[in-house]
Amino acid sequence: MAAEDGEVAAGFTVTPWEVSGKVDYDKLVRLFGTTPIDKKLLERLKKHSNGTLHPFLKRKLFFSHRDLDVLLDGFEKNGEKFALYTGRGPSGRTTIGHLIPWMFTKYLQDTFNAELYFQLTDDEKFLIKDGLTIEDVIAFTQDNALDVVACGFDPKKTRIFADTEYIKTLYKTAISVAKKITFSTAKAVFGFKNDSNIGIIFFPAIQAAPAFLPSIIEGKPVPVLIPCAIDQDPYWRIARDVAPKLGFPKPAAIHSKFIPSLGSGGKMSASIPETSIFTTDSEDVARKKVMNAFSGGQATVAEQKKLGGNPEVCSAFQYFVFLFENDDAKLGVLESECRSGRMVCGDCKKMLADRVCKFLNEHQERREKAKDVINDFMVRD
Ligand code: TRP
Repeated sequence: MAAEDGEVAAGFTVTPWEVSGKVDYDKLVRLFGTTPIDKKLLERLKKHSNGTLHPFLKRKLFFSHRDLDVLLDGFEKNGEKFALYTGRGPSGRTTIGHLIPWMFTKYLQDTFNAELYFQLTDDEKFLIKDGLTIEDVIAFTQDNALDVVACGFDPKKTRIFADTEYIKTLYKTAISVAKKITFSTAKAVFGFKNDSNIGIIFFPAIQAAPAFLPSIIEGKPVPVLIPCAIDQDPYWRIARDVAPKLGFPKPAAIHSKFIPSLGSGGKMSASIPETSIFTTDSEDVARKKVMNAFSGGQATVAEQKKLGGNPEVCSAFQYFVFLFENDDAKLGVLESECRSGRMVCGDCKKMLADRVCKFLNEHQERREKAKDVINDFMVRD
C-alpha cells in the first residue's frame, strides 16, 4: 500500500515533508510497521542510565523504534559499540520542538559513549521548499548548527556536516544506495508524483548515506541508532532495505512524537511563528506566545471556576508534560488544580512562561558560546 493511501485512510498525513491532521500514533506505528517501546525495553534503557528513565521516555514522547532491542543485545552481550545519527533540515529558525530529538541524542551520546553524525540537509530544504534560495538555506544551516552545538554534544565525538559541503564524502555511498532503489519504491514510500522535481526524488539516497558512514569511516560494520521524529521513518525503511545489499548493518531507530503547537491542534511548525517558540525568541516575545496559547479553559473565569479546565486538549499542559514539569507528583497536582477549576489558565500559563523563559535564557547563553567552538564540530570536504 502506498504511504499516502494509508495516511488518507487514517485521517491524517505524516510524511517527511508534511504533518497534518490529528496524528493517531498507535495507527501510525501500524501503518509504518515500527514497534512500540514496551516496558521491557524501558527497563533495559533504565539500567543503562543508573536506574532512572530519561523524562522523554517516561512521558512517552519517544514511543516507537526499529531494532533498538537488537542494538542493545549487541551492546550488552558483546560490548558492541554503536554510533548515533540524526539531523536537521535547515529551512528556518530552530524551534524548541526541533530540540527534542537533539536533547535526547545528547543523553544517548553520554549514556552509551557514542560517536554522533549530524546531517544538515541544506540540499533537501532547497529542493522541497518553494521560494527558498541556496543562500537562504546556507544561512539557516549556520544558524541552526549553533542550536545543535548548544545542546552540549562532545566535540571529540561529534561530526556535524552540511550536505553541500560534505557531498564528496557522501556521494559514493549515496549513488550506491540510489542504484538499489527503484522509482516505484520511492513513489510508494515517499508519495512522489510526476510533478515532483528530480532532485527530491534522488534525495532519499543522500539522507540514507550517513547511516553507513560510521562503517565506512571505521572500516568495519558499525551498528547505528537514529533518534528522530517519526516523520523521518520512511528514510530508514529504504536505508534498512538496501543495507544488507551493500554489506552494512541495518540502522536502528528510535522515534519521537511531535511537540504540539501553542495553537489548537497540529505540531509546532516554524512556518506558523505565532504558535511556535523559537530558540532565539526574546523573553517578551516568548512570554506573549505562551500567554496567547490555546488552552483547555472555559470562556470566562467564572465558568472556569465552576466547570474546571480540560488538560488533555490544552497545549500549555502538554508542554508541562513533555518538557517543563519532570516531577510526576507536581504534574498530578497541576492537573487536578486545572480540572477542579481552582487554577485558572492565566496563572498556569504564567507559570509555563517563566519556565520557558528560563529554558530559553540558558539555551541562548550556550548558543552564544557555540559561536566560538562551532568549527570544532563541523566537518567539510
Ligand atoms: N530530513 C530531516 C529534516 O527535514 C533532516 C535529517 C537528515 C534527519 N538526516 C536525519 C533527521 C537523521 C533525523 C535523523 O529535518
